[in-house]
This record gives sequence, C-alpha cells and structure tokens, in this order.
Amino acid sequence: MGGASHLSFSIQPGGCLRGSLQVPGDKSISHRAIMLGALAEGETRISGFLEGEDALATLAAFRHMGVTIQGPDQGRVLVRGVGLHGLRGPDGPLDMGNSGTSMRLLCGLLAGQGFRATLVGDASLTRRPMRRVTEPLARMGALIETSPTGTAPLHVRPAGGLKAIDYPMPVASAQVKSSLLLAGLYAAGETCVTEPAPTRDHTERMLRGFGYPVRTALGRVCLTGGGRLVATDLEIPGDISSAAFFLVGASIAPGSDLTLTNVGMNPTRIGVLNILRAMGADIEVRNAREAGGEPAADLRVRSARLRGIRIPEDQVPLAIDEFPALFVAAACAEGETVLTGAEELRVKESDRIQVMAEGFAALGMEVEPRADGIRIRGKGAALGGGEVDSHGDHRIAMSFAIAALRAGGPIAVRDCANVNTSFPGFAALAQGVGLAIEECYP
Ligand code: S3P
Repeated sequence: MGGASHLSFSIQPGGCLRGSLQVPGDKSISHRAIMLGALAEGETRISGFLEGEDALATLAAFRHMGVTIQGPDQGRVLVRGVGLHGLRGPDGPLDMGNSGTSMRLLCGLLAGQGFRATLVGDASLTRRPMRRVTEPLARMGALIETSPTGTAPLHVRPAGGLKAIDYPMPVASAQVKSSLLLAGLYAAGETCVTEPAPTRDHTERMLRGFGYPVRTALGRVCLTGGGRLVATDLEIPGDISSAAFFLVGASIAPGSDLTLTNVGMNPTRIGVLNILRAMGADIEVRNAREAGGEPAADLRVRSARLRGIRIPEDQVPLAIDEFPALFVAAACAEGETVLTGAEELRVKESDRIQVMAEGFAALGMEVEPRADGIRIRGKGAALGGGEVDSHGDHRIAMSFAIAALRAGGPIAVRDCANVNTSFPGFAALAQGVGLAIEECYP
C-alpha cells in the first residue's frame, strides 16, 4: 500500500465555521450521468461532475467498454454515447474500488449485454452484500456468479435476453431499484419495482431527462425495455451528503454562520435537513431553483442549541448516508437521540453503527449501539480529544473531523485516504471556513 492509504487528519479543537463554500458535485447523480450518457445516442455534456474516486471508477469502467469520454476537467465531462447496444466487452476486470453504487448499478446494466464482464472492488466493497441485486436479476434471466457468500467478484455472462419482472424490494435501496431499472432497459416487457419506503429517485429523473418513459405511482416505478436514450446536457448540483458535514459542524460550533451554495435538494435526499431542523438547527433555504431536472438551493446555517430526538423511521432512507454526521450532532445535543430501523448502516463502507460507537468511545463518550440503530445521550457539552480509527470509511473520517469543533482536545483520525472517494479537497475546504485541520502522511 502506498503512503496515501495512511493519510490521517489532525484537528485542533474548537473554533467555528464562517463564510461561504461550495461542496463538490453529487456522487449519486455523477455515476448516473456517466452511465446514461454512455448508453444514449449522441453527446452528453456534464457540468458539476464529482471528480472523486467512486465516480471516476464508473467513468473508467465505461472507457474500458469502449466509450469515448473527455475530461473530467473542473467538473466538465463530455460523453460520446454509444447507444443501448454499443458497449464493447472489456479486456479485463472492471475495478469498482470502494464504490457500492458503481458495482450494483453496473451489475444490472451488464446483465443485459452480449459480452462477459467481471466486477471487482477493494476489501470493503468485497465484503458488501450483492445478492440483493443478483437474486432479482437472476429472476430476469441474468447469469451472474458471486462468491459463495454472495459478494464480489461478480462474473456476468450474456443471458441471451432478459425478461421483465415485477419486484417488491425487501430493503429500501435506490441501488437495487436502479440496478433493476437499468437491466429493465434490456428486458422484454415492463419491469416494475415497488419500494417499501421512498428512496433517492435520481435514476428515474435522469432517465426521463434522456427521453426514456418511466412511470411512477405510489412507491412503484415501471419502465418498458427496448426504447432509446437521447443525449442531453446535465448540470449536477453539489452533494447534500457532503454538505451534511458542514451543516452539522456549523450547527454545533458556537459563533458559526456558514453558507453552502448550490446544494442538491431532491426531496428524497433531504432527511438530514429535516432531522437537524427537528433537533433545533437553524438552517435557512435560499435561492431555491431547479437545474438539470434536480432541485438545488443555497443553505445558510448558523449555530444553534440542538436537542436529542427520536428520529422518525420514514426519514432513514432519506438520510441514509448522513447518519455518521448526525450522530455527531446527537452527541453535542442536549438529551437523548434514538435511531431505529437503520440496520442498513451495518453494511455500508464500514459497519457505521459499530465504527461510530468505537470512535465515540475513543473520545470518552459511551453510546449504545443496537442491531438497527443507536442510542446517544447527548451531554450538550464537549467531547474529549483522542484518536479515532475511521476503518477506511470516508464519511466516518469526515464526521469525526467535524466533531473536533466541539472537542476538549485535539482529535486524530486515522485511515482517511478514502475521503477522496466522495469529497476530494475536504480538508482544504474545511480549513478555509475555519476548521483547524491538517492532513498528515506519516
Ligand atoms: C446510493 C444509494 C444508497 C446510498 C449510496 C448511494 C445511490 O445506497 O447509501 O451512498 O446512488 O443509489 P442504498 O441504495 O444501498 O441504500
């Protein structure tokens, strides 16, 4: 392993966040922009593309399958679409790195191709469950082989035609929904997916943006295979999941007044805003607008006294990536915060319930991890300083970096290189608005 894998953050305690910043482009939308742009007929021009390792893994995979892609250059990408049937078989495994979205969505898309492909990933991705996509895809006729425990590498073989299914999803997962919809583009008949709770709808929105009819009603999404995608231009807003660290940081650090510009405000993504506001956060939505089929706005956040809450379960899928940061808010709030119905957190880039609990313990705070959530008795007071292991999980690393704003001593966060998967330049941006953070490569 190179030195970068040993990247640590060292953060001095206290301070506040002031000024204005723009977080990088939305990760979920960036993946989909490359995928649909590649499958479309014509040239798709993307702006605001996230130049993070996860989205770059998706981009590299399509290059590997013969798609000409220019950029990224300051968030600008030009994709020369090859049409639904124009991809070429790759001459080696497609490496998805740390990215669950790349692997699960591509698995569905590859199921409909006339060539073989193998999807591999890093140690974390190789532990994550893939049967949630391979099982329904197999019902469509896909030929996909996993490891005996249902994990990567995934070997996808040509199926000689897929058939549509009507699938009630057992977990609320946008990745599963999107994987099946992408396979559905190649299936005979109408593919339908029913969600147990609303999940991010970027795939549906973007398919429509590319002129592909998608029908949605009462938690059910349907499309008919055999159509075509027509290239379009896409403007990707900032990622609310990246904004979340600053929403929490400015809320917990007295004296903060921070504006985050051009943040994606898709209603299926704003759970973090709803939850923070229910805890008493002072967040103003300004300049609400729509760009490229997705809502966006500027968010002004000022420090506030937060109180613990019982998090409504219907907010869980809408804030699924933001819980590490929200746990930090809960730790700094007064009173108890209880999260239930969030067992999915255990199969993200790390077991986020366990790893956050261990991190808090390292800072002198005991929380109660549970199978499907956590209980945090906030003290409304400072956390201790100390050394935290992020277990290579980008969102854990950034959450504990932000926690230093309310810590009594310096915090060191180990194993931070994967911050580059979703938020390249995090430390510099955070430093620019007041976080006393340094990157260390021992
Ligand atoms: C994503 C969906 C979510 C989320 C992930 C990105 C997507 O995963 O955690 O970071 O882009 O579709 P699940 O669908 O598994 O909940």
